[in-house]
Amino acid sequence: MKTKGAVLWEVGGEWSVEEIEVGDPREHEVTVELAASGLCHSDEHLVTGGTPVELPVIGGHEGAGVVTKVGPGVTSLQEGDHVVTAFIPACGQCPPCSDGHQNLCDLGAGLLTGQSISDGSFRIQARGQNVIPMCLLGTFSPYITVHEASVVKIDPDIPLEVAALVGCGVTTGWGSATRVADVRPGETVVIMGAGGVGMNAVQGAAAAGAKQVVVIDPVASKRERSMQFGATHTFASAAEATAALVDLTLGRMAHKVIITVGDIQGENVQEALTMTAKGGRAVVTGMGSAANVDVKLSLFELTLLQKDLQGAIFGGANPRAEIPALLSLYQGGQLNLDDLVTTKYKLEEINQGYQDMRDGRNIRGMITYSDADR
Ligand SMILES: NC(=O)c1ccc[n+]([C@@H]2O[C@H](COP(=O)([O-])OP(=O)(O)OC[C@H]3O[C@@H](n4cnc5c(N)ncnc54)[C@H](O)[C@@H]3O)[C@@H](O)[C@H]2O)c1
Ligand SMILES: [Zn+2]
Ligand SMILES: [Zn+2]
Repeated sequence: MKTKGAVLWEVGGEWSVEEIEVGDPREHEVTVELAASGLCHSDEHLVTGGTPVELPVIGGHEGAGVVTKVGPGVTSLQEGDHVVTAFIPACGQCPPCSDGHQNLCDLGAGLLTGQSISDGSFRIQARGQNVIPMCLLGTFSPYITVHEASVVKIDPDIPLEVAALVGCGVTTGWGSATRVADVRPGETVVIMGAGGVGMNAVQGAAAAGAKQVVVIDPVASKRERSMQFGATHTFASAAEATAALVDLTLGRMAHKVIITVGDIQGENVQEALTMTAKGGRAVVTGMGSAANVDVKLSLFELTLLQKDLQGAIFGGANPRAEIPALLSLYQGGQLNLDDLVTTKYKLEEINQGYQDMRDGRNIRGMITYSDADR
């Protein structure tokens, strides 16, 4: 079918909203009419070239919508089902999936190849060329045709615009705190970077019972908003937070530090480890340039203070279980999704949305689709 999509043709370029062709579902695939797509910082890494991918690429990996077509062999979904996209597919059968680590599903290896899971071919074309959909999704288009492993069925009572957030940022942030950092009641937790991901690490840390939730963000409005999501203290820089933590923890420092800055640098890792207590854990969720291999840290402290430095993808969560669970928490009033979206954009306004993110204006920007986009 012909529709519109936001395509990136060159590193450093703008998203070009133009006509694209989205193919019909093949074996084990469905077509989904999306209601919304979040503007995650991970798509910005495509623009900067920090995440290397062949171009052209259609961005977007945080969406929700309604299944409109079902391909042969699909067993888990039918037309009319409401779904959230999972930015890592969960096949349910590979060693990590069957061991309860769907966020590490072996299908993740093909995320940036654009080759469909079912037969290795491409579902999207623009200007007569194959286009790589970000994370095998490409939610910067009102229609996606994806493998059933890449979507999770949800309760149709949940507004789709709210549900979209759980496709990446919410689950990633929440799980970084509750699962990967394994925050326990009474702990002191530091979140570096209170954006679309970090704000949900704040919510996760607070829900897990952290006594002190310390937020670091250079943007004043993010610091203010983080108090609404459970922060107890906020600082503009790691240096300020480090000095204050000495008092706040009687010199012991934070049990857990979670890095969710938009464009992570090597020095952020050392900053996090300096704020981490003896026997504590620093979690690296933020991403930077794939080419950046410069991290300096005190191996002396790492070893002798037995600190734990841990990477995290998709918040260590099993999307099939966690996405419905988080939406159920939302329905119960225990997870704030309503205040995460700062600004809604039309697809045509996507470059403004990313400019607002760069300028620190959004917790999460979100594209909402209307018939005009289709
Ligand atoms: N590991 C994963 O599975 C995963 C999933 C999604 C996103 N990400 C990554 O997480 C990061 C955050 O994504 P996002 O969508 O929340 O981005 P965002 O731009 O919404 O938020 C980043 C925040 O970091 C703040 N910041 C910038 N420099 C800082 C510093 N030195 N100290 C403290 N705060 C700083 C910014 O002001 C902003 O509020 C990105 O790198 C993204 O690619 C990782
Ligand atoms: Zn994301
Ligand atoms: Zn798997």
